[in-house]
Amino acid sequence: MKAVAVQVFGGPEGLAVVDLPDPRPGRGQVLIATEAIGVGGVDAVIRSGALAAYGFVEGHVLGGEIAGTVTAVGSGVDGSWVGMRVWAFAGVGGGYAELVIAPDVTLVPLLGDISAIDAVTLGSSGAVAHFGLRHARFAPGESVLVRGAAGGIGIMTVQLAVRGGASAVAVTTSSAERGDRLRELGATQVLDRAGGGGEAGYDVIIDVVAGAGLPSFFAKLNPNGRMVAVGAVAGDPPADFGAQLFAAFQRSMSFATFSGATVSDADRRGVIAELFAAAGRGEVRPVVHEVLPLDQAVLAHQKMAAGEVFGRIVLTTIAS
Ligand SMILES: NC(=O)c1ccc[n+]([C@@H]2O[C@H](COP(=O)([O-])OP(=O)(O)OC[C@H]3O[C@@H](n4cnc5c(N)ncnc54)[C@H](OP(=O)(O)O)[C@@H]3O)[C@@H](O)[C@H]2O)c1
Repeated sequence: MKAVAVQVFGGPEGLAVVDLPDPRPGRGQVLIATEAIGVGGVDAVIRSGALAAYGFVEGHVLGGEIAGTVTAVGSGVDGSWVGMRVWAFAGVGGGYAELVIAPDVTLVPLLGDISAIDAVTLGSSGAVAHFGLRHARFAPGESVLVRGAAGGIGIMTVQLAVRGGASAVAVTTSSAERGDRLRELGATQVLDRAGGGGEAGYDVIIDVVAGAGLPSFFAKLNPNGRMVAVGAVAGDPPADFGAQLFAAFQRSMSFATFSGATVSDADRRGVIAELFAAAGRGEVRPVVHEVLPLDQAVLAHQKMAAGEVFGRIVLTTIAS
C-alpha cells in the first residue's frame, strides 16, 4: 500500500510517499481502506522531530483521524463492521495511508449524507470543542471567548457555543478576512491575536493558543469566569504563569486544561455521532480549507507551516 512517512525530521520536504506491506488487524482492531485523512498540528510537530524523545522515529507514518470503509476485522471484533463506512481514530500514527489499522472502540459509522471529508473535519475537533466547553461548565446565556478560533477546534467551539445559547461569542484571529468568516459561523465580536478590540469580560475562555500571551487573557474573564486550555499552538505559557493566576485571586476565576484522552471512548463516540447528525441537519458546518491527494502531503504541510489554513486540510486517497 501507499503511505506517507517522515523520511527526515525537519520541514515538510522531509515527508515522502513510500510503499509498505498491507497491515493486518490484530485483536480489537479493524482495517480501513481510507477515503479521507485529517491533517493536524500534531502531525507537524512529530514531523519536525520535536517528539523524538517520545519514541517517534524517522520512518514514522503520520496521521490519526481517518474515514473510509472497514475491509477486515481482527479477533474479538464484530464482523458486521466489514463493509461499513466509518470515522476512526488510529492514534498518533499510521493514518496517512491507503490502509489503516484502528481500534474498534473508536469507530463511528458514517450515516446519512456525511462525507468522509466532512467527517475528518468535524470529528476530533468537534469532540474537543464539545468537551472543552463542558469542562468549562459553559451554560446558556454565558459569554464565550475563543482564543485561536481559525483552526478546526476554534471553528467548532464557536459553532457549539452559539448552538448552546451563548449570549456573545468573541474570537481572536489574525486578519479581518478571517474575522468575517468567523462571523458567518456565528461569532459576534472579533479581537486581534492580543485580545485588542474586545468590549467586555467573558464568562468562559476556550484557549487553543497558550504561549507567552496566555496570562494577559486572565484580565478578560468575568468574576467566577473559567478558562480552559485545549491546545498550545504557541507553546507553553510563561514560567510566571502561576504567579499571574494567583495575582487575580480576588476574581475567583478558574484555569484548567482539557485533554480528550480523559474522555471515555463511548462518550467520544456518542458526541461525534451526534455532531455528524447535526451536520446532516445543517446545524453545524464543517470548514474544509482544501482537499489534496495523499501524495501531496508535503504541500499540505507547507500550507500549514505558512499559516494559511482556515479550518481543516484533508488528504484523500480517492482519485478526483
Ligand atoms: N485537547 C485535546 O484533546 C486536543 C486534541 C487535539 C489537538 N489538540 C491541540 O490543539 C491544537 C491544534 O488545534 P487547531 O488545529 O484548532 O489549531 P491550529 O489551526 O493549529 O491553530 C489555531 C489558530 O491559532 C492561531 N495561531 C497560530 N499560531 C499562533 C500564535 N503563535 N499566536 C497566536 N495565535 C496563533 C491561528 O489563527 P490566526 O492566524 O487567525 O490567529 C490558527 O489558525 C494543538 O495545540 C493540539 O495539540 C488538543
